[in-house]
Amino acid sequence: ADTTPRPPRPTLSDFHGVSMVHYFTDNWEKVQNFKARPDDILVATYPKAGTTWASYILDLLYFSLRQPDRMTSAPIYERVPFLEMQIPNFMTGTDFADNLDTTPRLIKTHLPVQLVPKSFWEQKCRVVYVARNAKDNAVSYFHFDRMNFAHPEPGDWNSYLQRFMDGKMVFGSWYDHVTGWWERKQSCPEIHYMFFEDMVEDTGREIEKLCSFLGLGSTAEEKQQIRDLVQFDTMKKDNMANYSTVPVMDFKVSPFMRKGKVGDWKNHFTTTQNEQFDEDYKKKMKNTTLQFRTEV
Ligand code: A3P
Repeated sequence: ADTTPRPPRPTLSDFHGVSMVHYFTDNWEKVQNFKARPDDILVATYPKAGTTWASYILDLLYFSLRQPDRMTSAPIYERVPFLEMQIPNFMTGTDFADNLDTTPRLIKTHLPVQLVPKSFWEQKCRVVYVARNAKDNAVSYFHFDRMNFAHPEPGDWNSYLQRFMDGKMVFGSWYDHVTGWWERKQSCPEIHYMFFEDMVEDTGREIEKLCSFLGLGSTAEEKQQIRDLVQFDTMKKDNMANYSTVPVMDFKVSPFMRKGKVGDWKNHFTTTQNEQFDEDYKKKMKNTTLQFRTEV
């Protein structure tokens, strides 16, 4: 059995209309007043949509491909700090971000668009948003919440799925998150909106698109190298990418790099759950042009 001493799991509470746990709101004063720089790049996602994958690609594009030492020097969550996180004896995201000595700074957030510190918008920082279809996102989040002691206990899958539909998750409603960022993107050219499913289907193509959004002239060879380095099996084995060094996670319950697939929801949803989910989804997503694929 896992005997690592850990604080009790936090409870969910309302924070400006979004369900949160204290680990992501305790440092709010500093988060809200965070001073972004014009060349900062924000990686924004709903949890489990492919944050680490996108962060890894960005880190390689800007730094690690040319300085391979960087890849082994620090885990990805230090190279791309998690802005709003404050876990005692582990990480205060704003301090890590303030101490980054690179240009650009790569910074990760799971905040819904309306809670992003205003300085990122004032500085016109570029944002890479990654979204993942609701069903796979829910399944991945369920397994993550089982092993991550910084989140509330997930309970059984059926009740978890109901809470996912009700938006009672850490960082709130998936539906509000993905549509909120999508609507903002329509009037904000600084946002590049990507899909996990597209990355699985053709990682190279998505790296191309990212490079053209960022104005990076990486060579074909470099892009090919990055494609190879960010394959699921390679990242899963890499202790600097797979979160195995994080104290609040129990990898015996479930690994961080779990399956990396599109369509794993089919192994979790019952026929009834699927029908109810689809019906509810249509209602919640009826006013948006945003579309997802649940298989590729
Ligand atoms: P699964 O739980 O479905 O396997 P995040 O980084 O936002 O927390 O997202 C984690 C999810 O992205 C996990 O999904 C993880 O396996 C998947 N993932 C991470 N790196 C990946 C990669 N290189 N290729 C495919 N999936 C990846």
